[in-house]
Formats: sequence, structure tokens, C-alpha cells
Amino acid sequence: MIEPSDDAFAERRFLISGESRPAFARYARLHQDRARARRVILAPERAYEVDPIGEAVLALCDGELTVGEIVERLASIYSAPAEIIANDVGKMLQGLADKRLLRDGPDLRAPAPLSFAAQSYSYSPGGPAGLLAELTHRCPLQCPYCSNPLEMERAATELSADEWGDAFRQAAAMGVLQLHLSGGEPTARRDLERILAGAVEAGLYTNLITAGVLLTREALQRLADIGLDHVQLSIQDVDPENADRISGYKGGLSKKRDVARWTRELGLGLTVNAPMHRQNMERLPAIVDFAVEVDAQRIEVAHIQYYAWAEKNRAALIPTREDFLKTIEIVDAAKARLTGVLTFDFVIHDHYATWPKACMGGWAQSIVVLTPSGRVLPCHAAQTLPGLTFDTVRERKLADIWRNGAAFEAFRGEDWMKEPCRACDRRKIDFGGCRCQAFAVTGDASATDPACQLSLHHGRFAALAEAESRVAPPPFIYRRMGGLASSGADVG
Ligand code: SF4
Ligand code: FES
Repeated sequence: MIEPSDDAFAERRFLISGESRPAFARYARLHQDRARARRVILAPERAYEVDPIGEAVLALCDGELTVGEIVERLASIYSAPAEIIANDVGKMLQGLADKRLLRDGPDLRAPAPLSFAAQSYSYSPGGPAGLLAELTHRCPLQCPYCSNPLEMERAATELSADEWGDAFRQAAAMGVLQLHLSGGEPTARRDLERILAGAVEAGLYTNLITAGVLLTREALQRLADIGLDHVQLSIQDVDPENADRISGYKGGLSKKRDVARWTRELGLGLTVNAPMHRQNMERLPAIVDFAVEVDAQRIEVAHIQYYAWAEKNRAALIPTREDFLKTIEIVDAAKARLTGVLTFDFVIHDHYATWPKACMGGWAQSIVVLTPSGRVLPCHAAQTLPGLTFDTVRERKLADIWRNGAAFEAFRGEDWMKEPCRACDRRKIDFGGCRCQAFAVTGDASATDPACQLSLHHGRFAALAEAESRVAPPPFIYRRMGGLASSGADVG
């Protein structure tokens, strides 16, 4: 663990001045989002809308011109006072620099290859912005909170690289911007390079969600050369023994440290993804330090969502309310200390929440999930809901499934809502919360998410967590192909 001083952090922040020569980092770029008729900055797991003035500024950020020169040019183009422009440009660029999307000066690395194929598509309005592609359910790790279903799909059923390529082209044509290559462990696919090439060719921003343990530097270099933008690296803990115990895999942490280093050496974006639960959260400060040490731009501190494997392991994972509240304090303090060094995504713990999250940004609104065999889902746990049928891209076009598929129509919009959601002002903010959690707790998929304080089940939901979190955790039920298996310490 490192103990960097505030000064060390300050040095790492890119402070914009008149002498700075800003340009996009390799993992950020301007993009024409034709489905929504707007310009966006594509960045790790985000797309930021840019107005025409912002676009004019960014067009001049080439790593050669100084901010002073950019201001002069804009003042002359727009016949406006240089001081006002300097103020606006400084604010805008500092905001981007603090998200770590800008570098200072020319980049000696080759830029990521970009595809022009996407320009030939005619986009359809109302499509999703993100695609989560579960390339395989195979994984060498056995994390007890895995979001894959209890019944995982076999390798023999997986889509081929060509089928994935076709799905990616269809997705790009629907307006998908961000592609999350996930699993299981996506690097378990021997044809990952061909799959990635299909995504890059389709013009998608690519995010590899990986546990890292199967990667070599050469393999990552090849992925970077093909055009990979960003790596999201999961860590179980920064205590190596506990990390081994949680993941059921020996020696993972040192491998992850290597993968993080290679990722940054290759100029790719890096997010550390740290699922939080009672068996690792005391080391949250050290996990944040790990992210700083490996030079990640982002960290996701994500309290576990309790469905699939995590639901089976709930009593082993659920924290006390006090410990959960401590994580909020730790993250708030770290955010303030690490401005411009590390950005935070914090996923709260549902049992102790007041309001629910807008799960998946709303059912069938912004994200679509494909399972390894090409089944198309509105969320990765949707198969836990009874009575829904799921189409596959082998049988039906992705856009048709998105617009008309029965599972997508089931909870899209507001017509399905019951009270208290139906009359609630927040229904356009959180869309009634998570359908899968509502079903898991109430037995009714159209009920209000019990994370909401207005749900009739909220008290029981919170009380269950309070009770479970206060007794000793049972052994983990490790994620395994072909069923449930319990073990306390098998990390062979
Ligand atoms: Fe959201 Fe429904 Fe709760 Fe209102 S009642 S806050 S819409 S979950
Ligand atoms: Fe399915 Fe939240 S996980 S809607």
C-alpha cells in the first residue's frame, strides 16, 4: 500500500494554464452520435455531450497549440474579449482534465485506429447507447457475487466471432456508442482479437471487462493495436490471501497489478472495479490507494447487487449499516483528496438506501445485454424473472428485438407501474428501480423496488440485512459451471 502525500497527488493533477498544450488522451475522442444528432466525447464508460462552442475549442486541442494560442484564435474567430474566452476555455478544459481525458503535449503513441464503417449506417432513433456483450460464461475465477446466472451457458452454444461482428454492426446502426466486452472472462475466448476487430470496425468504443489473470503483455499489446480503448479490471481485495479466498483463484492480485501496469504503458484507459462487501470493505482505503498506485483514471466502488450468485451468498457478503455508511465517508474524503487524479463511481448498497437506483438506466431504455449464445436481455439478471421470453440474434434482428421483443416491452415506459410508483414524482428518475430485485424480494416483478422507502417491503428488506450482517458469515457458495458448490477455503 502506498501513502502518497497531498503534494504527490497535486503533482499528478493536470492543471490547465496558458502554457498547457491539451489534447485528448488515447482513450477519449470526439464522436458524431448520429442516432441522437449530437457531438459527444467518448470516454471510459461515458459519453459527454459537447455544444458547438466546446467542439470549436476541442478541435484546436491538438497537443501542439497552447491554451493561450487557442484563446487568441477563438477570440479572433468569434470577435469576443480574450479574458472571457480564457475563463470559459479554462473551466471547460480543467473539467475534462479532472476526468483525466486530456494529456499535456504531443502523444508519442500511435492513436487508436478508428473505423469509418459506422458512418455508412442509417441510425434508428430510440436505440440503446450501451451494449453489454457476455462473450462467454467461462471464467477461471469463482467469485461468490458473480452476476452471471446460476445456470451458465456452455462454450458450445457461444456466438462465433462472425456472429458477434454482425451483432456489433447492428448495434452501431441502432445508436450504440459503448461496447462492454464482458463474461465470464472475455479473454477466455481464443478468438477475442477477431471479436474486438469486429467491434472496432463497427465504430464502437470498446471496454474490456476482465479479471486480468489470463492476459499477457503481448496479448494486451495486440488488443491495443487492434483498437481497444479501455480496460475495466476487477479486483477482489488488496490483501492477496483474501483476494485468493474470495475469487477461489491463487495469485490473482500480483497478476492484476501487472495487467494494470501494461494497460497504462499502452496508453489505454483503466478503471479499477472493486465490488464491496463485508469481507473486503475494511480495506477500502487501501483499494483506493491501489487504484492510484496503478494510475487508473477511474474506480468503481460498487456495493454488491443481490441477485444470482450474490443472492445465494447474501449472508456471507452483506455489510452492517454502519460499515456501509463508513464506505460513503471514505469515498467522499478520497474524492476530495484525489481531484484530477482518480474519478469515482460509487454504487450504494440497496438495503440501506432511501431511494432506488435507476437500474440499467431504466428497463429497455439505454442498455442492451447479449448472453454468450446471443440471447438478448434488457438487463443481465432478466432471466430470473418468470414468464418472459427472450429472443436471440440468431433468429431475429437486434433492432426488432429491442423495439418489439416481449421481454423489452414488459417493463418499458410507465404503463406497467403500480402504486406507489404510478403517481410518484420520481418515476421518471428511477423508473421504479430494479425489476429483478423487486421480484426477488416481493415475488412480483412489477412491484416497487424494495430499496425505495415508499415500498411496503422496505422495512422488511432493511431488517433482513441488519439481521444477516450481524451474525458470522457462512462459507461462500462459489460460482461454478453446472451448479451450486460450497467451500470455505478451496483456492486450488
Ligand atoms: Fe421510485 Fe417508485 Fe419509489 Fe417513486 S415509489 S421513488 S417511482 S421506486
Ligand atoms: Fe434486472 Fe435491475 S438487474 S432490472
